[in-house]
Amino acid sequence: MKIIMVVIWSVLSFSGLAAAAGGGYSLNKANIDATDAESLQRGAKIFADRCLSCHAATFMRYNRLADIGLSQGQIKQYFIADDSVKVGDTMKSAIDASTAKQMFGVIPPDLSVVSRSRGSDWLYTYFISFYKDETTTTGWNNSIFPNVAMPNVFSQEQGILRAVYAADDKSIVGLERETQGSLTARAFDDSMLDLTNFLVFMGEPAAEKRKQIGSLVIIFLILFAFMAWAVKREFWKDVH
Ligand code: HEC
Repeated sequence: MKIIMVVIWSVLSFSGLAAAAGGGYSLNKANIDATDAESLQRGAKIFADRCLSCHAATFMRYNRLADIGLSQGQIKQYFIADDSVKVGDTMKSAIDASTAKQMFGVIPPDLSVVSRSRGSDWLYTYFISFYKDETTTTGWNNSIFPNVAMPNVFSQEQGILRAVYAADDKSIVGLERETQGSLTARAFDDSMLDLTNFLVFMGEPAAEKRKQIGSLVIIFLILFAFMAWAVKREFWKDVH
């Protein structure tokens, strides 16, 4: 009984925490497809081109990109600019920790498993929710990460957004467009879904394989149970 109470209590408090993490600003649902290799490849390219300048992904090796359908040649050609980097290397940041700390006040966190701690909906909402804010050091702010030290890296593609505040308090109720970006709103959102898809893949590269093996194991267990039952019936036939 005690155990059941503890389980119920932890489930309730965890769901409470998850709701609190949103801070009132609702998250957008990230409709991503972990089996869509092209989406993962586009996401990987955005990640390598736009994020590794500040962040690292030290649990991720370049050659792991083979799991999303890229050949060793493609990995070398499209993902590795520097000759000193090998396909077997992990994804390191272009900036060293102390310079980053000086520039941003915090060290940009390693993103290998960020999808595990934040979840896909949070990440997707974070990427599309940067808005212009002259009061911050970077000139940017984020609806779900107030006073974030990361600048908006996609203002060119997305265009500039401004926050819309509630009349009675200072809470943000939405974002409105100030300038058009080089991508349509739809195309930009799609590219952020690709990026989120890749971050989720990176959090557990073997996830799809694990699910396949899981199904096979269940099928085997069902067949095995049937066979065990048939053998038992055969053995006991003469006893009765
Ligand atoms: C100019 C440097 C810079 C670039 C480029 C950059 N980031 Fe960041 N990012 C930061 C900094 C600094 C933080 C820490 C923010 C804070 O704690 O206030 C951060 C925080 C984050 C976080 C929040 C992590 C957490 O759980 O708190 C995520 C997710 C993230 N970045 C993803 C990305 C992705 C994906 C890209 C590429 C599209 C990217 N960043 C590009 C500097 C950068």
